[in-house]
Amino acid sequence: MLHDPNHLYIFDTTLRDGEQVPGCQLTTPEKIEIAKDLEKLGVDIIEAGFPVSSPGDFQSVVALSQAVNDVIICALTRANQNDIDVAAEALKYAKRPRIHTGIGSSDMHIKYKFNSTREEILERAVAAVKHAKSYVEDVEFYAEDAGRADLEFLAKMIESVIAAGATVVNIPDTNGYCLPDQYGAKIKYLKENVRNIDQAIISAHCHNDLGLATANSIAAIQNGARQVECTINGIGERAGNTSLEEVAMILKVHNQSFGSLTSNIDSRMFTYLSRKVSEMMNMPVQPNKAIVGRNAFAHSSGIHQDGFLKHRENYEIIRPEDVGLDEADIILTARSGRHALKHHLERLGFHLEKMILQIAINAFWFWPTKRKIFVMMT
Ligand code: KIV
Ligand code: ZN
Repeated sequence: MLHDPNHLYIFDTTLRDGEQVPGCQLTTPEKIEIAKDLEKLGVDIIEAGFPVSSPGDFQSVVALSQAVNDVIICALTRANQNDIDVAAEALKYAKRPRIHTGIGSSDMHIKYKFNSTREEILERAVAAVKHAKSYVEDVEFYAEDAGRADLEFLAKMIESVIAAGATVVNIPDTNGYCLPDQYGAKIKYLKENVRNIDQAIISAHCHNDLGLATANSIAAIQNGARQVECTINGIGERAGNTSLEEVAMILKVHNQSFGSLTSNIDSRMFTYLSRKVSEMMNMPVQPNKAIVGRNAFAHSSGIHQDGFLKHRENYEIIRPEDVGLDEADIILTARSGRHALKHHLERLGFHLEKMILQIAINAFWFWPTKRKIFVMMT
């Protein structure tokens, strides 16, 4: 696969890693609706499911392959022939199919999950990639638990699967274990020590067990990864995956730090899509969640409200319009000051003279019942 080195490929796994969370299951028509929105959002790859895991997942991969035209549709497998055969069958209508196959790479997984040896795991990895390649050109390999894998062995595994035909190599921090500098160094090491690394895209797949998924994905990009695997609202296994909206906004806000690297993401869809995924999956978004949380653009202390009303950039690094919100919220609380109250009264059409405004402010500050009435009015 020819790839553009200035493009950050956004691989959305909301419908696979996100959907495997208990209580988040979607019907096939719901998945189609979200996939069409993801296509409009500008993601490059949609991971549509794990076809061998259930008839429902199989059916969803078939349906998404038929429903989506421009985006790559990806199906997950383990490193065995049957999983890959089933995935290839599910992908047969996809205009741009990708098989995502892989196996554990840490000694922990090799010993306690597969009861195997490094040599045997390497053979299985290569055989899986070759088998997937007999069906599709675009094969992604994941080295599960790469975050805890021995670096030299990981490099050997990556070199072997690229030689076998992998076009994307996914280095998952499956357990959300790494620190950003460790994960970044891992990507750098692969970039510098895997002889055929230029023939593949390095992908970051980070989990949020220590709250570092986004930071780790950014460290990966800074060290040469050109694909990031993420989900809407950061949903996913346990503490979740990297949040798509966070990565995209970091790239936008800090564009000078990323040179000419860009993605196709239209951030103005974030609020809409976050709410839709949250409602459909029954998964509330924490109010203080970056970018899409209810309070992400709400200013509530008097000092911030005053500074914001004087010049919004005093307290705003992202314009709410850029994520699809109409405007920031100035919330009236016990700590709100004169500027916030004046702002709200003027929005309601009340332009009070200085003295009257002072009376209104006193009423707001000192009489809790009146404060409630003000807040209800605004
Ligand atoms: O977290 C992980 O390692 C995964 C792989 C299956 C890609 O989700
Ligand atoms: Zn994962």
